[in-house]
Amino acid sequence: MKQITVSAPGKLMLLGEHAVVYNHPCLVTAVGQRMKATIEKIDISELHIEAPDVNVTDYKKLITDVGSGDIPKGAKFVEIAVKNFKEKHPFLGGIKVTTSSEFSSLFGFGSSSASTVCVIKALSELFDIKLDEKGIFDLAYKTVLDIQGKGSGFDIAAAVYGGTLYYLTGGKKIEKLPIKSLSLIVGYSGIKADTATLVNKVAAKAKEYPEVIDTIYNKIEELVEKTKEYLLAEDWGHLGELMNVNQEYLEKLDVSIPKLDEMIKAARDAGAFGAKLSGAGGGDCMIAIASPETKKSIEKAIEKAGGQIIQINTNVEGVRVEI
Ligand code: PMV
Repeated sequence: MKQITVSAPGKLMLLGEHAVVYNHPCLVTAVGQRMKATIEKIDISELHIEAPDVNVTDYKKLITDVGSGDIPKGAKFVEIAVKNFKEKHPFLGGIKVTTSSEFSSLFGFGSSSASTVCVIKALSELFDIKLDEKGIFDLAYKTVLDIQGKGSGFDIAAAVYGGTLYYLTGGKKIEKLPIKSLSLIVGYSGIKADTATLVNKVAAKAKEYPEVIDTIYNKIEELVEKTKEYLLAEDWGHLGELMNVNQEYLEKLDVSIPKLDEMIKAARDAGAFGAKLSGAGGGDCMIAIASPETKKSIEKAIEKAGGQIIQINTNVEGVRVEI
């Protein structure tokens, strides 16, 4: 085989963000907009990367230098993924990696994590190395930690396993929930959030008020456990109520912003069962859950509050080879 294309889904956090960084569970669903990577073997011993969505074009490096020297921001996850894969499963020759995304990297759908997963999966197929889902997860998660230093890995799990997951920090537990569908309304705030800044902000708060923050994390964990039951029962009404309570705790952690608050309020006022921010906060997206009859008016209300509706499927398939 000379070339292979794989794709992996983006993700949306349903419940449990921030607490999941500190050994608490969360609920995450894979979204139907996907990241794609094509890897081909080339005749020279170099790594080439084409990732036009993140402004990387005509990037070339000796394969022996992969992972060292200057790496442009947009090439980091791909290059360190190649390095980590090669260290564990040495291969000969050079490769060209081309990535493209069906979603904007601004939405916070986890494009870096999904592309990392694509690279590991594609390399394993190309060089005929058997990696199961956990094997792909471990190498991709190591890559994210090497670059960011922190992170629960929930986004990696969504990209690898797909579906809707009950997930515990570092992949200590990854449970696929057997649900048939999950209809979410997604509103983009138009503001790019920086996950690391928000995680550090919460860490600083936890240092100052350890007991207060710990209590909040434990409360969030209770919500996650209860919501898991409602998800399995497809009880969207109760699920929405607990999303609202989770949002209150996120406000206590001070990671929500007025724009998200307004979009969330608009969704609730228009009849949503529940709404909350999704992910680190500070911008990116909010999600709402509602009955099919109220969907249209909720979308209109979110737009009136300044949000952009993103149409997505959830609970979709994880990383896969594309024909
Ligand atoms: O900003 P996002 O969508 O990548 O979500 C971050 C979620 C956190 O719990 C704050 C961080 C993490 O690694 O789980």
